[in-house]
Amino acid sequence: MIGFSFVFVFLMWTGVGGFRFDNLTHYVNSHEEEFVETLRTWVAVESDSSDIGKRSDLHRMMDLTAEKLRVIGGSVAMVDVGVQALANGSTIDLPKVVTAQFGSDPDKHTICIYGHVDVQPAKKEDGWETDPYQLTDINGNLYGRGASDNKAPVLAWIHTVEVYRALNIELPVNVKFLIEGMEETGSDGLDALIVAQRDTFFSDVDYIIISDCGWLSRRPAVTYGTRGNCYFFAEVSGPKKDLHSGVYGGTVVEPMTDLIGIMDKLISPSGEILIPGIREAVAALSDEEWKIYQDIDFDVERYKEDIGISELMYNNKVDLLAHRWRHPTVSIHGIEGAFSAPGTKTVIPAKVTGKFSIRQVPNMDPGVVERQVTDYLNAAFSKRKSPNKLNVTMVIGAKPWLADVNIPLYEAGRAAVRRVFDVEPDMIREGGTIPIAKTFEDVTGKSIIMLPIGGFDDGLHSQNEKISRYNYIEGTKLFISFLHEVSQIKKR
Ligand SMILES: *[C@@H]1O[C@H](CO)[C@@H](O)[C@H](O)[C@H]1NC(C)=O
Ligand SMILES: *[C@@H]1O[C@H](CO)[C@@H](O)[C@H](O)[C@H]1NC(C)=O
Ligand SMILES: *[C@@H]1O[C@H](CO)[C@@H](O)[C@H](O)[C@H]1NC(C)=O
Ligand SMILES: [Zn+2]
Repeated sequence: MIGFSFVFVFLMWTGVGGFRFDNLTHYVNSHEEEFVETLRTWVAVESDSSDIGKRSDLHRMMDLTAEKLRVIGGSVAMVDVGVQALANGSTIDLPKVVTAQFGSDPDKHTICIYGHVDVQPAKKEDGWETDPYQLTDINGNLYGRGASDNKAPVLAWIHTVEVYRALNIELPVNVKFLIEGMEETGSDGLDALIVAQRDTFFSDVDYIIISDCGWLSRRPAVTYGTRGNCYFFAEVSGPKKDLHSGVYGGTVVEPMTDLIGIMDKLISPSGEILIPGIREAVAALSDEEWKIYQDIDFDVERYKEDIGISELMYNNKVDLLAHRWRHPTVSIHGIEGAFSAPGTKTVIPAKVTGKFSIRQVPNMDPGVVERQVTDYLNAAFSKRKSPNKLNVTMVIGAKPWLADVNIPLYEAGRAAVRRVFDVEPDMIREGGTIPIAKTFEDVTGKSIIMLPIGGFDDGLHSQNEKISRYNYIEGTKLFISFLHEVSQIKKR
């Protein structure tokens, strides 16, 4: 009898399955101001990775991150990833990568949280309404550079561990962190670190979690794919120097005319990619996928309003989302070497370089795309019988990433959303590229999930970036809940 009531009381106290969710969320609620203050301290550090003049701030940001993880009991390492080569031939130190570990119980799953604490550039003069490095609360929105991308999500993860520890509740999974400081400029040094630590740091990791993106609407989302990107330079060169169009015009075949002629052959006015073989490589839309898009909360009219246009290429939700996420596209970004100042200078540029990129989706292969594009443009150019020279090069070849949403990891993500927000998440993809996801997958072979907590209107990379208190605090609860859901996955 004593045994029975003891078990009964124990179950009452711990809640179903031993998950003391109410205790944990209560702690989060009562520490909201403290969590906001920590974010304020972090946002105040101008950890702009693109500005080498701010490198000492960036180093300080990595120190702060390591310190925070140490204070809550992690075994922390700051990994040297070498130097960054500058244009003038000299080098500067890359920010160290911070790794941390909480727990190493072999009976538990191990997750690894990836995040970054560097930020995009920001100046008040760029059009910010507040000082970008002073976190400012306006109606529950916390404005500041890096607030949503990616400092608050990283802190929400750290607070998740902190809350379990503060309440003396055992972490349901082992948690590792991998936090870098060069994400906004291409994660210099990180690929090599992942390869080097594949059989050490990553050997016991079961799942990799990335929270470096946002929801699509007010409904929470789980992200299962990103597009890749192949970026091209097409250089057309002719005369050995720029020429005056009045003096020489009409006697030379102009590189700019050639370039525009071939660039116009990349994509039709209705958005059809004209390079042979590209559309054929795209995976067919399955019924399951169609259903996912159909269920997503997405307002086409508001999307149009946001961009400020009256007509889109596709007017129904499914086609629109499909073309944002799961179809390739060609974007022309600019022409280098062209006269671009205002006014009417009459120059014939001697050499011009067209820049364009093609977003990658399954089952495209960047190596194949490189050949298809090069062959196609060379053929189009030779039809012009121009005496100029064309040189096509692919300078970035990032693969797309796509996860299977039917694995238990994704059910854990959906269950965590249901518990905290009482809704089914939107299952979404990103039209942009997060190359590190593909690297993690290719090098470590582990499953990856993206669990965003940023709002759809957070203005990442833009003026007036913010995260709402709601997303920050409820997002922390989402992560707390997610740890529990992952612990419920059967160990293989
Ligand atoms: C946990 O929650 C239970 C029930 O709400 C409460 O009685 C208990 O005091 C809480 N424990 C802690 C450590 O907050
Ligand atoms: C290269 O540029 C950096 C940053 O502008 C500067 O600090 C450094 O002195 C330069 N090095 C050389 C060799 O000019
Ligand atoms: C073509 O351009 C690339 C990149 O700009 C350059 O490295 C390469 O030498 C060029 N090739 C020729 C034949 O000019
Ligand atoms: Zn980011």
